[in-house]
Amino acid sequence: MCGIVGYIGKKNAYQILIDGLKRLEYRGYDSAGISIINNNSKIVAFKQKGKVSEVESAIDSSEFTGNIGIGHTRWATHGEPNDVNAHPHFDMDENIIIVHNGIIENYKTLQKFLSGEGFTNRSETDTEILANLMNYYYRQTKNFEQAVRNSLNDVEGTYGVACLCAKEPDRIIVARKGSPLMLGVSMEEIIIASDASAIINHTKNVMYLEDGEMAVLTKQGFQLKTIKDEDIYREIQELDFELSEIEKGGFEHFMLKEICEQSDSIQNTYRGRINFDTGVARLGGLEPVMEKILNAKRILITACGTAWHAGLTGEYMLESCARIPVEVDYASEFRYRNPIIYPDDVVFVISQSGETADTLSALREAKNNGATTVGIVNAVGSTIAREVDAGTYIHAGPEIGVASTKAFTCQLMSLTLISMMLAEAKGAMDSENLKRIADEIKMLPEKIQTMIDRREEYKFIAEEFKDARNFLYLGRGYNFPAALEGALKLKEISYIHAEGYPAAEMKHGPIALIDENMPVVFIAPKDKTYDKIISNIEEVKARKGRIISIAFEDDDQIAQYSDFVLRVPKTINILTPIINSIPLQFLAYYIATARGCNVDQPRNLAKSVTVE
Ligand code: M6R
Repeated sequence: MCGIVGYIGKKNAYQILIDGLKRLEYRGYDSAGISIINNNSKIVAFKQKGKVSEVESAIDSSEFTGNIGIGHTRWATHGEPNDVNAHPHFDMDENIIIVHNGIIENYKTLQKFLSGEGFTNRSETDTEILANLMNYYYRQTKNFEQAVRNSLNDVEGTYGVACLCAKEPDRIIVARKGSPLMLGVSMEEIIIASDASAIINHTKNVMYLEDGEMAVLTKQGFQLKTIKDEDIYREIQELDFELSEIEKGGFEHFMLKEICEQSDSIQNTYRGRINFDTGVARLGGLEPVMEKILNAKRILITACGTAWHAGLTGEYMLESCARIPVEVDYASEFRYRNPIIYPDDVVFVISQSGETADTLSALREAKNNGATTVGIVNAVGSTIAREVDAGTYIHAGPEIGVASTKAFTCQLMSLTLISMMLAEAKGAMDSENLKRIADEIKMLPEKIQTMIDRREEYKFIAEEFKDARNFLYLGRGYNFPAALEGALKLKEISYIHAEGYPAAEMKHGPIALIDENMPVVFIAPKDKTYDKIISNIEEVKARKGRIISIAFEDDDQIAQYSDFVLRVPKTINILTPIINSIPLQFLAYYIATARGCNVDQPRNLAKSVTVE
């Protein structure tokens, strides 16, 4: 949610900032801007509504020569996306200029105070108020660092912030509270970024700022402190992915690339974690809290969006395999409804980015109440990964497409492994059944690949339905959350209204929507509810709905009830949501591209939602 980049070193900052913003654009893309301390030690800035490439075309880069600078790509929170509200923001005297992610919650109080001091605003943003506050303190202290520190101590809310000062043009000051920020550190330069994708092409050596910390960066190095002015020393860490993983690699979109990576990403999730001879799964990251989990009376799962759908599937998996009661909550609701949390509860927190503000708050709520917390996270070193008591990385690799695809299936695979591990430890499943799941997992990558190889089939169906105005997605059991996820994918990238329901729930309301214009996607694996699903299909058919079924290759009944059938390889029940998600992702992708939508940057969305 908004991207921040910054550079200080010996190179010309301009192109580094523009390239960094392009890599961060998946985090927000309604406007962008940069600011540089030029060779005459003056601050120059440019910002406008639109994509980074449009900003790049509009800038006269010859005016932007200098080797210290900051940049921003925005996802609007306060104030509509326009040129004035774009970042960076100068204070009224044009002494301090800042880029900011997050929300200054007490901006109205601060604004009132500052207007009493004669400060005025040009924009509608909370960020400009922070810039004015910094300059208010600069006027008093004549010290940039002190001015930033004083201001941050007055602020309520969240920030990742990078600041330049015309009167102290040799430095950048950055700070973080609730909005991620990291430094890429090498001998001659420092890159600032809100995530590693803008750093990896410069260095793998990074240092994450923690909440309440600030750093003063000069060409000689950096000093890390708390905003209360205490010195901090922290080890540099190494990023664990390669540049090629965040590039499109010949695919038209990141989303398509990431859908097509799932044969590999699934293997990366389970690699080294299953003994295929015995069916025993082991996740080393969970070992420290195994005792707690095994003694827990219940597991709570909390997450947002796609990760919440994975959590719902996890409820079915954990209850069925390990026989532990599970409750699943939207993180945003969990946090604010004063939940009952017992010290012997174990709370699973699922997040691709590891930075989602609602999920992070839910995690902190659980910890404050004494529960044991377990992360199921993709982004290595992210805030959630660092704050949980224990956890497992899903190893999906960087996910750049705003619509989550491979992270979802890898979250499902992680939850399968956790369910197997707990089932074995609790003696809730015999070794024959565990071995059967393990055998099927081993075959999954090949099965996924067969679907990827014949993706053109899904394209044909997408052409047929690209003009639909609504869609229903129905599934049962493990495939009810898959139906929710299929509907979310379509909504997010094609802007077609879509709803997911448990198939049997349809007759309790949604059936009123069915007519000849309503496509209904049925997820229909041959499991114990198959006959019921066929009845539900007939109910839709009787009302002239158009049926798209997702069914096993050897299902010779389904075609007679369906207008279209998307065939998937046969697998066991627990793995069907993974298998069925692949055609659902392709369906959404091809419908969206047939409608001419920008699937990697869908309107109003951002990859990582770091505001509540
Ligand atoms: O990074 P997280 O997994 O915590 O993100 C949660 C949701 O914001 C995310 O899954 C969102 O719903 C995606 N746009 C889904 O495609």
